[in-house]
Amino acid sequence: MPKKAQDSIWETIREEAVEAAQHEPMLSSFLHATVLAHKRLEDALSFHLAGKLESLALPAITLRELFDDAFANDHTIGVAMRADLNAVRQRDPACRAFAQTLLYFKGFHAIQSYRVAHYYWNHERQPLALYLQSRISEVFTVDIHPAARIGKGVLMDHAHGIVIGETAIIEDNVSMLHNVTLGGTGKSVGDRHPKIQTGVMIGAGAKILGNVTVGKGSKIAAGAVVLNDVPPHTAMAGVPAKAVGMVNTAIPAFEMDQYFHEDGSGL
Ligand SMILES: CC(C)(COP(=O)(O)OP(=O)(O)OC[C@H]1O[C@@H](n2cnc3c(N)ncnc32)[C@H](O)[C@@H]1OP(=O)(O)O)[C@@H](O)C(=O)NCCC(=O)NCCS
Repeated sequence: MPKKAQDSIWETIREEAVEAAQHEPMLSSFLHATVLAHKRLEDALSFHLAGKLESLALPAITLRELFDDAFANDHTIGVAMRADLNAVRQRDPACRAFAQTLLYFKGFHAIQSYRVAHYYWNHERQPLALYLQSRISEVFTVDIHPAARIGKGVLMDHAHGIVIGETAIIEDNVSMLHNVTLGGTGKSVGDRHPKIQTGVMIGAGAKILGNVTVGKGSKIAAGAVVLNDVPPHTAMAGVPAKAVGMVNTAIPAFEMDQYFHEDGSGL
């Protein structure tokens, strides 16, 4: 984890929380408990997620220990989490502050909770990882198998209804909207889920099925059903999806440009 003095996102979040508390005194206690009472971003996130995911089986205090241990033992989680915060801040026009993402965006909450579940999956604690997957799905409506591999700088905008299968891989700097499925066709076993390369933007409701690769910098239209490999920098639309043009922007995930020209030009 970066030293406190270098953690500019955390410093900004604290300033945003102070400002929000002054603007809306009714939220002062909440902002103190979730942000201002903590020394580090990881502590604040651990507290907040534990409160959201607690249950009779695993109370918040136990979940905090699990989150704290994962953050302490695998510093890449904190690096990816900060990249995810930047992704939301830069790409979601509705996001006006890092604190907004930390406190309210369930796509962000789901990915960070998945990162902890993935840590325990990789440390021979699969029953715990599967329990966390179940709670994450119940609470955030995002169902990510803990064995799936997800890079950093990932945005899940709105997020409800997202499903990501066991052998799916999502590289860095991918953006997706709600109701996206990265699933199997039901016809294969083993390595059966999609591989999404860097910079891809996936529109709301798109289904990408099977062990297919979506090439870097591609753009998948809302509602598309992708059943085959997609070459890099290609725009796909329809059911089943067909190439409708090339993507001019290098990283469509950054632009969140969801416009598809009828003739495929200027995408
Ligand atoms: C329908 C399905 C089972 C494939 O069935 P299939 O009969 O083996 O189909 P094939 O893969 O041989 O494709 C046959 C044709 O149907 C089309 N097709 C396949 N799945 C399709 C879908 N979901 N929507 C529209 N067309 C589809 C194919 O493009 C192909 O068209 P073509 O003959 O013009 O090339 C599968 O694609 C599917 O949709 N499974 C559901 C998976 C799912 O819900 N997964 C989520 C897991 S979380």
